[in-house]
Amino acid sequence: MKITIIGTGYVGLVTGACFAEVGHNVICVDNDAQKVRVLQSGGIPNYEPGLEEIVQKNVDEGRLRFTESTQDGVENSDVIFIAVPTPPQQDGSVDLSFIEKVAREIATYMKSYKIVVDKSTVPVKTGEKVAETLRRYTKTNVDCDVVSNPEFLREGFAVEDFLRPERIVIGVFSQRPVKAMKEIYAPFNAPIIVTDINSAELIKHAANSFLAMKISYINAISVICESTGADVIEVANGIGMDSRIGRRFLDAGIGFGGSCFPKDLSAFIKISEEIGYDFRLLKEVRRINAEQMDRFIKKITDTIWVLKDKTIGVLGLAFKQNTDDVRMSPAIELCKRLQKTGTKLRVHDPKAMEKARAVLTNVTYVEDMNNVAEGCDALVIATEWEIFKKLDLERARKSMTHPIMFDGRNLFDPEEMEKLGWIYKSVGRK
Ligand code: UGA
Repeated sequence: MKITIIGTGYVGLVTGACFAEVGHNVICVDNDAQKVRVLQSGGIPNYEPGLEEIVQKNVDEGRLRFTESTQDGVENSDVIFIAVPTPPQQDGSVDLSFIEKVAREIATYMKSYKIVVDKSTVPVKTGEKVAETLRRYTKTNVDCDVVSNPEFLREGFAVEDFLRPERIVIGVFSQRPVKAMKEIYAPFNAPIIVTDINSAELIKHAANSFLAMKISYINAISVICESTGADVIEVANGIGMDSRIGRRFLDAGIGFGGSCFPKDLSAFIKISEEIGYDFRLLKEVRRINAEQMDRFIKKITDTIWVLKDKTIGVLGLAFKQNTDDVRMSPAIELCKRLQKTGTKLRVHDPKAMEKARAVLTNVTYVEDMNNVAEGCDALVIATEWEIFKKLDLERARKSMTHPIMFDGRNLFDPEEMEKLGWIYKSVGRK
């Protein structure tokens, strides 16, 4: 199939590269000239495991190319995916101006029947607006179909998630675009749900909010565990074995962040409010998430007492492991809040240091994770990077003023840590 993807952010680039990887001909459009140049010269703007390889391979094999021209993309493809940002506004609602602008542009350049697919996360009923906009701005009166095809990939595992999806959701107004959409996704061998467009759009917000709810649920349980001497990991394992619940997304910590959950949660609360439903359950999910960070910081201050002029080492800056993304990162928030108390910070992240430098200043960036603890009064684990489990604990302990670790991601075993001479405090465990 001839496919165009408009927007080469995390979702757009992964989508384009993976469609090319399974044999489609793909044009990726972006209005950021600098980004297009980077992509054309074989680089990728964001770290994402496995992505650079498949981008290069498919460019070399002639199935993937990049352009700044929407006209080029629209004229030379049958199916156009919209994957532009839908950022949050001050009141939590979604800014749909990029979607609207792209819809207008597509309408302007459309000379034959096209399928226009929305992949960006949008409020329910956006598809109706996109269809209206396409009809309004088309000059040639050509026909088109609008489809909603939400994306469920996780940053850091995006390529893997895209190539091996658990389900594909296709929301349509009529049956006409279904055959082509099924053809596009046939190589992925995944169950395909064909539904109405409003349900498809809702599936995305409902899924992300549910996952956020799971995290807040286990974080709430972690509070109970701490005051009763129970262990949140044992509880998560115990409840997670019930297939109706499932073990994933039950890792307690310092809360969820990133460019999706906080934004989608607020958007869903706002969307519900606009249709007259007060989604208090989700408001509570958001509140528990904020409190989890407060509680962690209190744990640090309760232990260290006066933070001013103390030095704390922080391992992890990305909002989660396997990514260089620091948007809405709990780790960055934690650093900033510690800075406000006058604490000096020595920080490290395996991939996110470059991006962190733009948002976190007046800290010492340490290249080697094993040097972070040097001269520190405490060490904090803020992101769940697997590699932190390989930290040279003995070297770290000996180089610190006090061997205290606040593990915000429960990476280590409390008993082991005590045996090794650490004062170890984690989340939801003794
Ligand atoms: C999330 C969803 O998982 C994807 O399915 C969805 O496609 C994506 O949003 C999106 O809407 O684009 P992502 O934001 O990449 O993906 O990251 P997650 O792996 O979901 O993690 C989100 C946050 O939750 C991270 O800060 C992570 O540390 C935290 N988390 C996750 C926990 O605190 N505990 C857990 O058990 C799992």
